[in-house]
Amino acid sequence: MLLRNDVLLILKSNKGKYTSGQELCDKLNVSRTAVWKCINELKSDGYIIGSKHKSGYILIEEPDVINYTEISPHLKTNFIGRNYLYFDSISSTNDYAKEIASDSPDGTTIVAEEQTSGRGRMGRQWVSYKKQGIWMSIILKPNIAPNDAVKLTQVAAVSLVDAIRETTNLTSYIKWPNDIIVNGKKACGILTEMNGEIDKINFIVVGIGVNVNVDSFPVDLQDKATSLSIEASKKIDRKLLTASMLNNFERYYRTFLDKGFFSIRNLCKKYSLTLGKDVKVIMNNKEYVGQAVDIGDDGSLIVAFKNGEKKAITSGEVSI
Ligand code: BTN
Repeated sequence: MLLRNDVLLILKSNKGKYTSGQELCDKLNVSRTAVWKCINELKSDGYIIGSKHKSGYILIEEPDVINYTEISPHLKTNFIGRNYLYFDSISSTNDYAKEIASDSPDGTTIVAEEQTSGRGRMGRQWVSYKKQGIWMSIILKPNIAPNDAVKLTQVAAVSLVDAIRETTNLTSYIKWPNDIIVNGKKACGILTEMNGEIDKINFIVVGIGVNVNVDSFPVDLQDKATSLSIEASKKIDRKLLTASMLNNFERYYRTFLDKGFFSIRNLCKKYSLTLGKDVKVIMNNKEYVGQAVDIGDDGSLIVAFKNGEKKAITSGEVSI
């Protein structure tokens, strides 16, 4: 696998030119047969590679895939996404992340081209079409209190807003706590799950689903869901967006760990679609109706009621 990536990187660096088989063997210190095997593997992954007697190999076309080789040239992180586990198809990246989290380093990132049982909040299904989105989970092992785990959803949310703007120029907003909205419709969702004890976190999995190049949605979702390509009226580069999400996530995550949540709270407020709106909140089977007035120091949504009372909402379903 590593050799295959190295072969690809050399072909990429010589794009438009032939690379001789001998050069590949010499640079990678492997046999011709090993190189030939890698070339065949790359071809079966969708890379179009030409070959010519005495000239060698030439990379003609790269597939739209978000494996590590494609992402790493754009990745500026130290640890987020450096252990990058890539799948063509998986049941759910969050489920897999939870399975392997105990034995995986901090920042391990699982990315799949397709999820067959993608999950959303509240036990909902998350439709994850092949190569049309970014379906990823990040394993984190922060030394924070279990109650603070919810703040990571906000860290992911501000990272997404920035990454979307950087890569697509679209303006998006956070519908507290975990939806990213573009032009009034949901384009991304975040599912943060924790494993720990009362006073200690073992690990947290931040699952992120982005509808990138989804061109149509099932009828029941059409008025609520959208994709970045629909809103931008053009195909979006999933490689750049994936790298930008990871870069921004590491930046905000570090800031959060070093300086505390208050350091990103203003951004949460700035990017919020919920603040200032009348909201209906369902929490612990109770319904609250009021106005969203602030984001608390703990990442909660502060709702003011007609009687002047205020309540910090930490979880639940909020509709605007
Ligand atoms: C929501 O809005 O309800 C949250 C959606 C989260 C979807 C992502 S896709 C990657 C990761 N794996 C899953 O099964 N779910 C999350």
